[in-house]
Order: sequence, then C-alpha cells, then structure tokens
Amino acid sequence: MYRQLLLLTTLVVVGEAYKVLVVFPFPSRSHSILGDGVVNALAKAGHQVTYITPFPKAKTASNIRELDVSTNKAFIPDDTRDHLESHLNNTRLDLKLATFVTTLSKMFANTIETKAVQKLINDPNEKFDVIIIEWLFFELYAGLSAVFNCPFIWVSPVDPHWKMLALVDDVANPAYTPDILSDILPPFSFVQRVKELGLQIFGLGLQYFVIYPILLEDYNRILVPVIQKRGLPVPPLQDLIYNASLVLSNSHPSVGKTTSLPQNYIPVGGYHIGREVKPLPENLKKLLDNSKDGLIFFSLGSNIKSKYLPDQLKQSLLKMFGGLKQTVLWKFEEDLPGTPPNVHIVQWAPQHSILAHPNCIIFLTHGGLLSTTEAIHFGKPIIAIPVFADQFTNAKRAVQKGFGIYLKLTYNLADDIKAAVQEMLSNPRYSLKAKELSVIYHHRPLTPDKELVHWVEHVVKTGGAPHLRSLALMVPWYQKLYLDLLAVIVILIYAIVFAIKKVISYFRKNKTKSKRKTK
Ligand SMILES: *[C@@H]1O[C@H](CO)[C@@H](O)[C@H](O)[C@H]1NC(C)=O
Repeated sequence: MYRQLLLLTTLVVVGEAYKVLVVFPFPSRSHSILGDGVVNALAKAGHQVTYITPFPKAKTASNIRELDVSTNKAFIPDDTRDHLESHLNNTRLDLKLATFVTTLSKMFANTIETKAVQKLINDPNEKFDVIIIEWLFFELYAGLSAVFNCPFIWVSPVDPHWKMLALVDDVANPAYTPDILSDILPPFSFVQRVKELGLQIFGLGLQYFVIYPILLEDYNRILVPVIQKRGLPVPPLQDLIYNASLVLSNSHPSVGKTTSLPQNYIPVGGYHIGREVKPLPENLKKLLDNSKDGLIFFSLGSNIKSKYLPDQLKQSLLKMFGGLKQTVLWKFEEDLPGTPPNVHIVQWAPQHSILAHPNCIIFLTHGGLLSTTEAIHFGKPIIAIPVFADQFTNAKRAVQKGFGIYLKLTYNLADDIKAAVQEMLSNPRYSLKAKELSVIYHHRPLTPDKELVHWVEHVVKTGGAPHLRSLALMVPWYQKLYLDLLAVIVILIYAIVFAIKKVISYFRKNKTKSKRKTK
C-alpha cells in the first residue's frame, strides 16, 4: 500500500512521461550497471524506457522494455587472464590494437543488426523523445538520432576523456589532462607532457584514419537505408557525431580530476548507487555486526575471475588474511579449502550495503571507477590492485587524493596487502580523507540520479538544448590554434624580408652604377 502511494505521488509529481531509448550494448557487467542506473532513474521518474542491453533481466518495471543484444558477448573476448598473467610474470601484454578495433566495431554493428533492434528501427510507429547512448570510442549510434529524428545524449562511462570532450567542445589540453589509459597524473614532467601530447595525436590519427572510415561504412550500410525508409533526410555522419545535446558523465571531482568542462557536460558520478541502501541479508548483517575489530571487504569485481588466480597466490592470501585480527569478507567464485575462521567467502556480495556498514573499514578492490566511486560515496578508504583499463589511473588518483594505497599485482601480493592494511589501521589519515571526500561528493544541489533525470528532461523540453552547444564546434582546429594567423605572419615576414633585400640590392646596384658614372 505504502509503495503504491509512493508510486502515485511520483506519477503526480512528474508532468509528462517521455519515451526514452537507452543504448548500452557493451557486454560487460560494469557498463551495464551504468545502463541500469540510467534506466532505473528515468523509470522511477515515470518515463517510458526502451533499453538495449546484453544483460536483460527476468523482471522489470512495467515502463521498461528491454531489447536483448546478448549476442554481443561473442565479440568481446575475455582477456582478463592475460592481463593477470602479464602482471604476475612481469611480462608485457601485447595489446593488439588492430584486432581490438575490428572486433569492437563489429560488436557495434551487431547491436543494430540484432533482430530486436532491427524490428524497433524498422517500425515506423516507434518514436522517441530522446536517445541516451553510452560512448565507447565508436560513435555509430549517433545515427539513431537521425533514424528517430530526435536529440541524443552521450553517457561517458569514465572520467572526462579528451576524445569525448572533442565531441561536444574541444580536445582537452594534454599538458594537464592525462589520457584515461595512462597512469600518470599532473603536474607532468617535460617527458610526461610530451608523452601525453603524443598519445593524443596518436588517438586523433586513429580516429581519423581507422575508426571514422569504419563508422562511415557501417552508417551507410546499416542505418542510412532505415533513415531513407522512414522518409527522413540523411544527415552526413560527421554532423551527427558532433550533434549530441549533452554528455552525462559518470564522474565527479570528489572521485576524479577537475577538468574544465563545457556547459553541456554534466558530471553525475554515483547515479548508479541507489538513494537508499538495501538492508543486508541476515547472515552478512550478523557477520558485520559481530566484526568488532572491523571488516575488510575484498572484491576484484566481476571481470577478474578467481579461477584465473594461481593457487600459490590464493593460498598465500588465505594464510595472510588468517593472521589478521579483522574479519575478511572475500567475494570469490569458489570455496577455498583451508579457509581460516576469520575469512568468509561469498560468491555474491551486496557491495553497497557492505560498504555502508560502519564496521566495514577497508575496501580491497581492483580500483574500477564504479568501486572507487562507491568507496567515496560510503566514505571508505581503499587498497587498490589495478589490473586493466582505467583502474591504474583511478588507483593513482586514490593515492594522490589520500584515501588509498596502490598495490602492484605480483606474487608478493599477500605481504604487500598485509603491510598496507597495517599502515591503514595505524594511520587514520586514509579513512579521514575518505570521509572528507564523501562530504564533498554528497554536497550537491541534487542527488546524481535526480540530476540525470533533470538534464534528460531539459533536453526534451528545449528541443535538444541547442543553447548549451559549445561555440568551439563551429571553429576548425587550425583556426583554434591560430595557424592561419601564423601563416599570415610568416608570409608577412617573408614579404618584408624579401622587400628589404630587393631595396638593398637596388640601392647597391645604383651606387655601383653612379660610381661608374662619376669615373
Ligand atoms: C542536431 O540536433 C538538433 C537538436 O536536436 C536538431 O534539430 C538537428 O536536426 C540535428 N542535426 C543533425 C545533423 O542531426
């Protein structure tokens, strides 16, 4: 009854229900957590949501419709084991960029070619007020805004990325904005600054010469016929890509870096965390309540499978955990033989509810952005063991901000964790800093999920929010760098030098002539 009343009030509060298409087709759990967060926030606000997802749920609210693109999973090979082994054996992992680009682009095309999505885009009765798309290096889905003739919004899964910023404003200055995949933080040394510039130039080259041609081909092959069938004008892909109304970014200065952002770049980091913490299951509640010396929560996320960890490492971790006074709650997919009494292994863990408990004192994590954000949300210090992607830069930042310790994944991990735990227990500065950042994180005019809904509604209400569009998009790059002015100056200097030379040589000639005459 109470719930129904609540639902009724939310429906009354909301003026209009919009039709929203949410596109999060990347087959990774953490990305779909972000997609679910968008969908749930909008559905709660009373909007009609269609959700393209590789992880459809058994049951959803009545205003959520899911389109299954789980076939995308076949395109993304799980290379976590290779990453783990390269750290442990101290070998370089050969990141096969070309394979990465082609498989990823095929996945992006596959989403559209999936039966459910084909049915959607080819049905002339399907209409949307706005489309929300997760950005991940390929901008093919910007074409959906031409299919449905409505505005679209990017969601950035990471801290402000220069490539993402370039889509709505301009590339970020590499002198103080590191690429999310590099693990260095400003202030940069000279060499680091040059390296960041190099990375950006390389990325721009990759976009221009490799990614864009693939996008164009896919756009012409799979989206243009649909747009034409609907009798709509076919905009050039280049215009579509740079036509997003907003970026909703899974970032916040309390967790990430302070980047200069355009007006339509809205940081809503933490929106995936519910406003209310769900109660813990009885067994876990008891465990946490009874952990008088505190509980250490250990989870390497959903990608790093326990079966990839070598036995030697697992055994040394168990032995070390067994020697601690604290309780250890380890999220792991398998039961381990010889688990000490203070170590508890669970296959599934309600991470938010565990971190929210006052007896949870340290979060031992891979340093993914979601986990890092959750640590700040609940004000808990972290010990980060990064394995891939942006985890390194997140871990470095946790150290720089003062609420974390960065550990390299080696066979020495057990000893390193022990030392880090002892440092954290004896030095209160980590947990004090985590609490301080948590205050900053929570001190916003609206909770991030409400803010997200507000901005989505703003885009619909204002016909795509053209008033927020950055003027930087109107200016070609050579003009921004004043290369045209430079060209004018160079030509001018050259002309002046040329003229002066001419005049001098003219006078010299005259002089010799007049000298001859006087002779
Ligand atoms: C760009 O977005 C605006 C606002 O949503 C829309 O009116 C315009 O048609 C779009 N342009 C292209 C090329 O899609």
